[in-house]
Amino acid sequence: MTALAQGYQPPYPPRHIGRLSIWQLYLRGRRNMLSVFNQNAYATAMTRMKIGRRQIFFFNMPEAIQQVLQAQPRIFERKSPQMRHALEPLLGDGLIISDGPVWKARRPVVQAVTHASRMALLTPVMTTVAEEWRSRWAALPAGTELELHAEMARLAAQVITRAIFGRSLTGDQLDKVAVAFSDYQARIDHLDMASMFDLDDVLPRLHGLWRRRQIGAIHAVVDQLITRALAAAQHDESLVGSMAQAGTMDLRAFRNEAITLFLAGHETTANVLAWAWFLLAQAPDAEAKLHEELARVLGGRAPGIEDLPKLPFTRAITEETLRLYPPIPLLAREAAADTVVAGIPLPRGSLAIVAPWIVHRHRTHWAEPDSFRPERFLPGAPPPARYTYLPFSLGPRVCTGALFGIYETMICLATLAQSFRLKLKPGADIMPVMRLTLRPSPRLPMFLEPR
Ligand code: HEM
Repeated sequence: MTALAQGYQPPYPPRHIGRLSIWQLYLRGRRNMLSVFNQNAYATAMTRMKIGRRQIFFFNMPEAIQQVLQAQPRIFERKSPQMRHALEPLLGDGLIISDGPVWKARRPVVQAVTHASRMALLTPVMTTVAEEWRSRWAALPAGTELELHAEMARLAAQVITRAIFGRSLTGDQLDKVAVAFSDYQARIDHLDMASMFDLDDVLPRLHGLWRRRQIGAIHAVVDQLITRALAAAQHDESLVGSMAQAGTMDLRAFRNEAITLFLAGHETTANVLAWAWFLLAQAPDAEAKLHEELARVLGGRAPGIEDLPKLPFTRAITEETLRLYPPIPLLAREAAADTVVAGIPLPRGSLAIVAPWIVHRHRTHWAEPDSFRPERFLPGAPPPARYTYLPFSLGPRVCTGALFGIYETMICLATLAQSFRLKLKPGADIMPVMRLTLRPSPRLPMFLEPR
């Protein structure tokens, strides 16, 4: 039997049996939030925890998921205090953490700029960056060791920065923004979801001074770029330019939304790409099918938007990677008032969590839930049950950049996989770890091989 037919099982943290004490959970959670879930969490309708005064509910069934993410927007529109705490100094009232009237006014503006109807304008940036990467890699000696997650983060930073500020940015300016953002992100990385336990809420404050300086530097660069992008707005397809056309906002609002788009759109896509390369390297049958599709449809050239519908296997790999390693593995909401979800009473202030990490691997919803089987997403395969596949969340706060992320992943994979194969460094022991997003840990060392 082939590796794929057996269902290659990529790594996931060990799942304990039975209950652990709060202290044991805390220690596990600090290392990796994903290792706090026991085996039963992947088979049950709901898991409840009480930590200090806070009640936490993990909901896994369609009815409850729909109620938390879609049907009770007034109750569940607020992100968790931990997420707001970490991101507010940088994003201010940026869309991903805002709520109430600010969110309501900004959502249509931000949503419009990556709408499906604009993708034909935005995908050329992806193709250009993918081509540049192909040339960069081609200049490296065969067998070069790459830290693939960092490599994909740089690639995605180039795509999103050029998309936000326009293609007229010089390499220097691009680097300045990308480096400033990455530094900030490296610092807030300390915030893993163990802070949900409320024990290390002080952490963001410890970094207060550094953060103020760093944030000031980022804001200064971004303000300059926005002013320039707005001046060029008439003839520029930049996201900042189209926000200017879609609504009236002051410079601070532009800045907050530009930074939000960068943060929301950069590491998420980088993670999908990194995991996809990792999975392909472990599943030679899937890799061969991908190569066959790319050779047949593209014959060596980089794809444009018109090619994407002809690449169903490339898309299936992207979707299966998003299922197994959803970049945002937990969606947490703070209940604004007492409420009831699927018959269960939730007091005000409790956290309702829908975890794509769990729902995507739940025994009830998926056959061979822990196996890599891109075929389940091919046209003609039965679609996943409603509300059980949610890498981009769902409901009113669904990701506005879902199509952008999927197209970017497909275009970069398709361009680079036609010229290169990546091989995992022997002995590398890779595990998904939840930081702000779901990353390969400790690093992702891979060897570059020309094809
Ligand atoms: C594969 C890549 C991506 C994944 C998996 C992803 C996933 C998500 C998820 C799960 C959320 C909801 C978070 C929550 O409810 O706590 C979200 C929100 C958001 N995403 Fe994405 N995202 C991706 C790419 C992008 C891109 C490329 C952009 C922009 C160009 C973007 C912009 C946003 C924005 C603005 C929000 C906030 C929406 C709101 O709260 O109204 N995302 N994303």
